[in-house]
Amino acid sequence: MDITNRDQIYQFAKEWVLEAGEHIRNVIDEPLTIDTKSNPNDLVTQMDRNTEEYFAKKIKGTFPAHKLLSEEGFGDNLETLDGTVWIIDPIDGTMNFVHQKRNFAISVGIYQDGVGEIAFIYNVMEDILYHAKKGQGAFKDIVKLPKLDEKVTLDQSILLINSLWSGENKRINHEKIQDLVRKVRGTRSYGSAALEFAGIAEGVLDGYISMKLYPWDFAAGVILIEEVGGTTSQANGKALNFLTENTVFSGNFQIAKEIIDNYIELK
Ligand code: IPD
Ligand code: CA
Ligand code: CA
Repeated sequence: MDITNRDQIYQFAKEWVLEAGEHIRNVIDEPLTIDTKSNPNDLVTQMDRNTEEYFAKKIKGTFPAHKLLSEEGFGDNLETLDGTVWIIDPIDGTMNFVHQKRNFAISVGIYQDGVGEIAFIYNVMEDILYHAKKGQGAFKDIVKLPKLDEKVTLDQSILLINSLWSGENKRINHEKIQDLVRKVRGTRSYGSAALEFAGIAEGVLDGYISMKLYPWDFAAGVILIEEVGGTTSQANGKALNFLTENTVFSGNFQIAKEIIDNYIELK
C-alpha cells in the first residue's frame, strides 16, 4: 500500500466510521431486536448487522478488490490475509450496547498482505476516535499519544482481565492467574476489547489478558498498540493468528515479559 493510496483509504474509512457512529447515536433510544448466537449471553442486534452491512457495501462499492473479515456474516471467507483486508467489528461491546447504551466501539483495522496499516477505534457515545497509520503514531482525536511508559512495573499496573479465565476454561493454570491478580495494583474489565486496547494505547491501563478474542476484536487494537511502542501476542507470547480465535496479551514489553514468563501456563 503506497502512501497516497493509504491516505485515500484512511479518509474513506474515517468518514464511514464517523457516519456509522453518528447513526447509532441518533437511534440509540429506539427499540432493538436482540438475538442470541452461540449461547444466551452472546448477544447480537440488528444494529450490529446493519452497521456491518453498511461497511460491506461502502467497501465493495468503493474498493471492489478489497476484502472484508468481519463478525456478522457480511464479510468474505478468507484463507489468507493477502491483498487489502478490512477487519471490522461493527459493534464491539454488544452487551454494553444492549444493557448500558454506552461503552461500545466500532473497530476497523486495515491490513495489507498481513501488515497492519490503518486503525480506527471509535467510542461511539463519547464521540472519541482513536486512530493510527503505521509508522505515524497513534492519536486520540487530534492528540498524538505518547509512547508507553516502559518503567511501569507489574506491581504498579492496572491489568484488564475478564472472567473468561475462570469456570469452564480448563486451558489455563488458575492458581497462577490468582497470583497475577494479587500481584498487580488493580484489575478492570470494560466489556469492549477495542476500548480496552485503546485504554492501553492511551496509557491509562497497562495490560490486557483475554482467553478468547477473534481477529475483529483485536485487528485495530494491535496497530494502535504497536504505534505507541507496545506489544500484542497470544497469551503465551506466540504471534497472533488473524484467521481464527486467539488468547491475547497486550501491553508494554516489560510487563508482557513478566506476565508471559511467570504467570501464563496454557495447558
Ligand atoms: C466482545 C467484547 C468483550 C470480549 C468478548 C468479545 P462483542 O465482543 O470485546 O470485551 O470479552 O470476548 O466477544 O461480542 O461485543 O463484539
Ligand atoms: Ca468484539
Ligand atoms: Ca461485535
